[in-house]
Amino acid sequence: MSAKIIDGKRLSQEVRTECQARAARLAGKGTQPGLAVVIVGDNPASTVYVRNKAKACSETGIYSEVHEFAESTTEEEVIGRIQELNRDAKIHGILVQLPLPRHFDSSKVIASVAVEKDVDGFHLYNVGALVTGSSIFPPCTPNGVMKMLEKYDIPIEGQHAVIVGRSNIVGKPMALMLLHEGATVTICTSRTRHLSEYTSRADILVVAVGKPRMITAPMVKPGATVIDVGINRLPDGKLAGDVDFESVKEKAGYITPVPGGVGPMTIAMLLYNTVVAAEQAYVRLQGS
Ligand code: GUN
Repeated sequence: MSAKIIDGKRLSQEVRTECQARAARLAGKGTQPGLAVVIVGDNPASTVYVRNKAKACSETGIYSEVHEFAESTTEEEVIGRIQELNRDAKIHGILVQLPLPRHFDSSKVIASVAVEKDVDGFHLYNVGALVTGSSIFPPCTPNGVMKMLEKYDIPIEGQHAVIVGRSNIVGKPMALMLLHEGATVTICTSRTRHLSEYTSRADILVVAVGKPRMITAPMVKPGATVIDVGINRLPDGKLAGDVDFESVKEKAGYITPVPGGVGPMTIAMLLYNTVVAAEQAYVRLQGS
């Protein structure tokens, strides 16, 4: 039997509609949510992501500005701009597009973002909050995955979740979020020996390694939920996930497509975090 397709595009639209309503309500009270995106260099994928984020903001009633820097810019210059944005009352969320150029210390740059504007959830304070289950800004991609599981009534508690990928952006926060909801979590990497021994035991399999179609049907448990975070450009120009969709969809219970799966959810959750940041800034303003 063919798997149910988890429709990230439709679901992201639901989240966006809610964000739009909350943004309009805040704007009516004099606070339009605002997001600043900082991008350094001209990584083509990052340029597309940033353009999509800005477009999504304008469609949702969120003010946005993009701060572009040349590859040769110094870390101090970028941190200086972030400090200005930290003080800017019309900006409620600041996102530093990753990866930064190699001569940058990414953790130092991320640490310069004010905790209450860290809508990516990458600041060490927010990472710590995620570990203890008290996060205000959960990282957007894994949070989008959690939303998908929730909306499709996919049980988490007591289930075995296997994550392939250990990045700070997806793999690690994903593991913490699933753990918090009561899953038994295994984290693998692209280099895990006998990978299929782990993946084939997963009730929920999340793959985020950036290797096109590396997960094939024999590596998947029948009826499993398969979440594909990979977006890979093939030599013929087409996009492919980390999961071999055509074969795996015949074995899984639920599966996300690429494109149209996790990607749109990441942007929707960024909008959501930005609206939350603006709501909190409004409350602080009322209390002062
Ligand atoms: N690069 C790839 N994914 C992300 C993300 O979610 N946030 C940021 N800031 N950079 C990224």
